Amino acid sequence: MPADAAIAALPIAETALKIPAHIAVIMDGNGRWAKARGKARTEGHVEGVKALRRLVNLAMAYGVRHLTVYSFSSENWRRPPEEVSFIFSLLRRFVASDLDTLHANNVRVRIIGSPEGLDPGLTRMIEGVQLKTLHNTGLELIVAFNYGGKGEIVEAARRIARDVAAGRLSANDINEASFARYLMTADTPDPDLIIRTSGEQRLSNFLLWQGAYAELVFLEENWPDFGETGFVKALTEYSRRKRRFGDVEAQEP
Ligand code: IPE
Ligand code: IPE
Ligand code: MG
Repeated sequence: MPADAAIAALPIAETALKIPAHIAVIMDGNGRWAKARGKARTEGHVEGVKALRRLVNLAMAYGVRHLTVYSFSSENWRRPPEEVSFIFSLLRRFVASDLDTLHANNVRVRIIGSPEGLDPGLTRMIEGVQLKTLHNTGLELIVAFNYGGKGEIVEAARRIARDVAAGRLSANDINEASFARYLMTADTPDPDLIIRTSGEQRLSNFLLWQGAYAELVFLEENWPDFGETGFVKALTEYSRRKRRFGDVEAQEP
């Protein structure tokens, strides 16, 4: 047997990392991180942006194709208005400070969520970011902002109903594949791995449809503490999982 054939036949080491094509992250625990340090919750959010930057760099370095981050849920409006407006201003500041670098790194940015409740300036900014990076071919960074999974599914159903009423779609042609095309994530494969920090073990209305077969990994650390250690821990856990998709044996996605 030629030497290179022997190498190819070697079993993959148990620790070999599988890199998910799509990772989605629930960035949770900013408030608790701040509280533990006697700081205001807003300081936790500021540190959270630094962790987001680390995550984007890690995703690029490890060859992840799609990265979705949950940055403001449709339920987060329940928070005090000062905190809500601070999070909104952070999004603006993140775009102002990071958009050029993201663009230079060939990152395609998309924002998913409802425009409802956002001021027109923010909506324009979101459109500008998407347009600027539209033709980039590197990492796809999807920011879920003012996003809720149930709301997304309802909105898809509403648009489908309109298309059926207008004769553009037949009710018989509604199936999982056609339905998914009405979701905000159309064109992006479902997440393989959903990571949540802060020890909470729930989805909080994140990617309810798309996460049907995602592997879930919960990390104890709060989001501002997230870095390569947590990232590799999640990937290691993911690599150990056997994804069956309803079958009896492990399957490739
Ligand atoms: C996540 O951190 C950030 C957002 C939800 C915007 P939290 O603000 O939820 O932090 P905890 O959960 O209160 O610690
Ligand atoms: C989920 O975190 C939303 C984001 C991370 C943006 P929350 O902190 O809002 O979730 P719950 O309220 O603990 O479920
Ligand atoms: Mg939280």
